[in-house]
Amino acid sequence: MSKYDFIKDFLKEAEDTKLKRVLRAINPVSARESEFEGRRFLNFSSNNYMALSEHPELRNESVRWGEKYGSGSGASRLITGTSAACLRLEDEIARWKGTEASIVIGSGYLANSGIIPALADRSAVIFADKLNHASLNAGCQLSGAEFLRYRHNDVDHLVSFLEKHKDNPRKLIVSDTVFSMDGDIAPLDDIKRLAKEYDALLYLDDAHASGVFGEHGEGLSDGADIAMGTFSKALGSYGAYAACSSLMKDYLINRCGTFIYSTALPPAVLGSIAAAVSLVQTPACNEARKNLYEKFTYLRTSLEKAGFDTANSRTPVIPVIIGDSGEVIKLSSKLFEKGILALPVRPPTVPKNTARIRISVNAAHTYEDIDRLIDALKKA
Ligand SMILES: Cc1ncc(COP(=O)(O)O)c(C=O)c1O
Repeated sequence: MSKYDFIKDFLKEAEDTKLKRVLRAINPVSARESEFEGRRFLNFSSNNYMALSEHPELRNESVRWGEKYGSGSGASRLITGTSAACLRLEDEIARWKGTEASIVIGSGYLANSGIIPALADRSAVIFADKLNHASLNAGCQLSGAEFLRYRHNDVDHLVSFLEKHKDNPRKLIVSDTVFSMDGDIAPLDDIKRLAKEYDALLYLDDAHASGVFGEHGEGLSDGADIAMGTFSKALGSYGAYAACSSLMKDYLINRCGTFIYSTALPPAVLGSIAAAVSLVQTPACNEARKNLYEKFTYLRTSLEKAGFDTANSRTPVIPVIIGDSGEVIKLSSKLFEKGILALPVRPPTVPKNTARIRISVNAAHTYEDIDRLIDALKKA
């Protein structure tokens, strides 16, 4: 017996069941391509939906803020980690999202795992979609609240839970707007209506809709008490926001542990966020969003015609559901041989027997790239 036995046992089981994860050095070349072991690959696995991570304005602002304010923020937001520029950025994010206020937090995981426990304690009950992101589940579990998970996008199931707990004054509904692994969209009108009807707080995670949906890329979280989103995906940078009322912001500043006890984002990151928030609202970006919409619809419908199961995807995230983890690894390897990075996603990230290739389309992909992917998938 050794104190490391449980670690070795875990890794062996992961290996045996084809669920072991490994890190690979995949170097970005552009939003379209990555380099691995000296070879170039078409990259269909990043969340860089608007291809902004390589945009010169993000790079330039990142450098400018870094030069002006230094490489680190030096302290948490409540100590000396809040510059005037950071507060201006929060005002701008609030304008973009159509809310009174916004608060920038270190990352999406930090936002979800810190804000939810601030909103729900042991006396509360949380109603959460079964396929919510792991960071939302972490927040729900950390809160100590009763944590009820309704079947994916099943409004009737949500209603049955709400009815049962209608007398509890502390209710919180939590859902992704766009689901990260299925690429489908929550029944947002129903969820918003139910939150009002049952007087529940509504927390929406707009990570995969921010920058991609809405006339100004503002996403799909309109009307939520907390409209949380990230800058790490379509906005091409890093970090997260919660757009909310001024009252809620005031509360989070005083109550959200991952905001209070974590160092503020570095200025260079804030600079690229500022550039991205401004860029996604431009007519050029609006045009790019329309083109992206046409591209991912073309890819999804072509895959459906070829007989692939793409679940209910309606976004740039398109799963090709295979089921078995070993089979999905084989499929991904075949695509890899053809110069395409489309990586497998296996349990526990997705439910058992739903291992898949998770494809994500971005604004830099050409129709030729997409046809190459379709052809490779058909042959594989
Ligand atoms: C829906 C969703 N929420 C939150 C996160 C976490 O955000 P971050 O990567 O900024 O920690 C992710 C993924 O990264 C996500 O897909």
